[in-house]
Amino acid sequence: MNSNSNINAYIDAHKDRFLNELFELLRIPSVSADPAYKNDVIRTADSIKEKLFAAGADKVEICPTAGYPIVYGEKIIDPKLPTVLVYGHYDVQPADPIELWTSGPFEPVIKKTELHPEGAIFARGACDDKGQMYMHVKAFELMMQTNTLACNVKFMIEGEEEVGSTNLAIFVKQNKERLKADVILISDTGIIANDIPSICVGLRGLSYVEVEVTGPNRDLHSGLYGGAVANPINILCEMISKMKDDKNHITIPGFYDDVEILSAEERAEMAKAPFSLDGYKKSLDLSDIHGEDGYTTNERNSIRPTLDVNGIWGGYTGEGAKTVIASKAYAKISMRLVPHQNSDKITELFKNYFESIAPKSVKVKVTPHHGGEPVVTPSTSGAYKAASMAMETTYGKKPVPVRSGGSIPIVAMFKSELGLDSVLMGFGLDSDAIHSPNEHYGVFNYLKGIETIPYFYKYFADFKK
Ligand code: BES
Ligand code: MN
Ligand code: MN
Repeated sequence: MNSNSNINAYIDAHKDRFLNELFELLRIPSVSADPAYKNDVIRTADSIKEKLFAAGADKVEICPTAGYPIVYGEKIIDPKLPTVLVYGHYDVQPADPIELWTSGPFEPVIKKTELHPEGAIFARGACDDKGQMYMHVKAFELMMQTNTLACNVKFMIEGEEEVGSTNLAIFVKQNKERLKADVILISDTGIIANDIPSICVGLRGLSYVEVEVTGPNRDLHSGLYGGAVANPINILCEMISKMKDDKNHITIPGFYDDVEILSAEERAEMAKAPFSLDGYKKSLDLSDIHGEDGYTTNERNSIRPTLDVNGIWGGYTGEGAKTVIASKAYAKISMRLVPHQNSDKITELFKNYFESIAPKSVKVKVTPHHGGEPVVTPSTSGAYKAASMAMETTYGKKPVPVRSGGSIPIVAMFKSELGLDSVLMGFGLDSDAIHSPNEHYGVFNYLKGIETIPYFYKYFADFKK
């Protein structure tokens, strides 16, 4: 096929509509974590069903689950051709803190930024993952309309990724036949920069716990009782500070037992990925970086596990000063995991350690939340090569394989349950502020994704011949 001109001509002719359709999705606040948005989340699934159907999919179906539905659609053109299973998510993170947005989180607008001189779409979910997911729907439309679809395609778009994908995990186990494919293709990660393409080849796992520390049975006057009883907030802070040593190693016994140690060659290979420490610090207004001794910034945020407090509260936080010793203190703590750590095992180790360091003067409770396993995807497979060649075709540069620090727990399950590897061909930038106020996604990135995906199908089909 003279695909280059075909693809670009189609995108040129339809890009305004491609943007408008994405805007329609972005206007629906599909926040999966907050039950107040229940109807909106469901409406988003309906809208994706319509859009998949309009793009040319057959058998588009809303598959109910115990939580939010999964939108499934497929186009089987020839059972002898390879099948690509596209995964994405239509749910988004909560928009708060809303006052820090420069425009409404669910009122998408295009604004120019330093890294997106051609404009970026500002809205919750613009990059994570509505924008990236919808590139696949539009690339599919393009291949249908230009008669170039080279593989069968199955879409599985879920609405609970941001809350742990528990129901998708059940759906996958129950639909192994229907989900048969040769590869899973996902755009829910990023590239290094718009002129430095990369392909994600690893995701960290996650253990997430909530802890509660109880001191006295009621809030106390901090003068009458202060100094004589345990203050649960002080104790919680002391306990948290015992979780890392002065080298920023995590002190939970056994925590590192299963951690994969990369060879010097692998680390040297990683260090080749373009990275500016100065630029990194500047972009975050930091005068210095911080992390585990003996590792670079890129290692700290990808091949090494972490322990971070995500939220901490207790006592009086209102106006003025209230003299009080709270009865309870709380924290939410995440641990990002690397191969071959196991989420349940790490949660257990955390619980044991947290309980063991609690002084007798308090009671503690550890409640686990959803977790997920780390994954490394092959960078030598035909599917990886197809993605690499696709990006090389549209960026003019061979993409760099990079392990990411984020988590998509279902990816490890795709491997264990379906035996399928995923290709993590994302197009976002770390600076796109996903999960933050003012999330955005470059118009360049959106259109580049739509342009690149059809080449993946083409090269993947060629490899499978
Ligand atoms: N798309 C992200 C994960 C991601 C982003 C991976 C960028 C690599 C690069 C996903 O939607 C996400 O936010 N995952 C959560 C985990 C989930 C269990 C809530 C995360 O990583 O915190
Ligand atoms: Mn995502
Ligand atoms: Mn996310």
